[in-house]
Amino acid sequence: MTTQSLVKGDAHTAAAGTTGDQQVRVWDPLVRVFHWSLVAAFATAFIVEDDVLGLHVWAGYLALTLIAIRLVWGVIGTRYARFTDFVRGPRQVLGYIGDALRFNAPRYLGHNPAGGAMVVALLILVGLTGLTGMALYGAQELSGPLAPMMAGAPADVGEALEETHEVLANLTLVLIVAHVAGVLFSSLAHRENLIGSMLTGRKRRDD
Ligand code: HEM
Repeated sequence: MTTQSLVKGDAHTAAAGTTGDQQVRVWDPLVRVFHWSLVAAFATAFIVEDDVLGLHVWAGYLALTLIAIRLVWGVIGTRYARFTDFVRGPRQVLGYIGDALRFNAPRYLGHNPAGGAMVVALLILVGLTGLTGMALYGAQELSGPLAPMMAGAPADVGEALEETHEVLANLTLVLIVAHVAGVLFSSLAHRENLIGSMLTGRKRRDD
């Protein structure tokens, strides 16, 4: 494993914000509250399924609201929250994964290219899971904001939506497992606690 002295992302700007002890403020409060609320919302909806439908539906609404807020924050938010800071093309993402597997990937203060791709995938999948759930709720229970649109939909539309909703939720879970594995891998490779950073918002300035 190499010790990386290269840190992508300039730690010395006012936007990043520095603290007195060689730490940099990276994740703003909105990103942190968003993250852990999304974890809670997804976990709740996934665990209770339709056994407690009211709770499942409200957890889904919360997840969708969080995603909507995060999409706006990705455009107008702080430096490391912006999509322009971490959304990269396939070549850079694959290049980064290759470097990481050789334990030779540079450290990033914000999301690295692979982490950024995972963030986008998670936002899309959680969003689609929520939207298909809302359509299903409208079609089968005649409830929720999409009820007027979905009322009268044939039964097989409801069944297809149910299947799609379930597949999307399971795919999201697969991505979450990969996401957490990536976080742990990166934490070990760069000897830092990325989970702690998502709680405090801070990372060490450089190596
Ligand atoms: C307990 C399990 C989880 C842990 C420990 C965890 C940890 C983390 C960490 C450390 C980051 C920052 C990565 C970096 O430094 O680049 C992150 C980002 C992110 N995680 Fe998780 N995560 C978990 C579960 C989830 C779940 C369940 C979801 C989605 C349903 C999720 C979605 C995201 C998203 C969207 C981001 C980007 C945050 C942003 O930029 O706004 N995570 N996660």
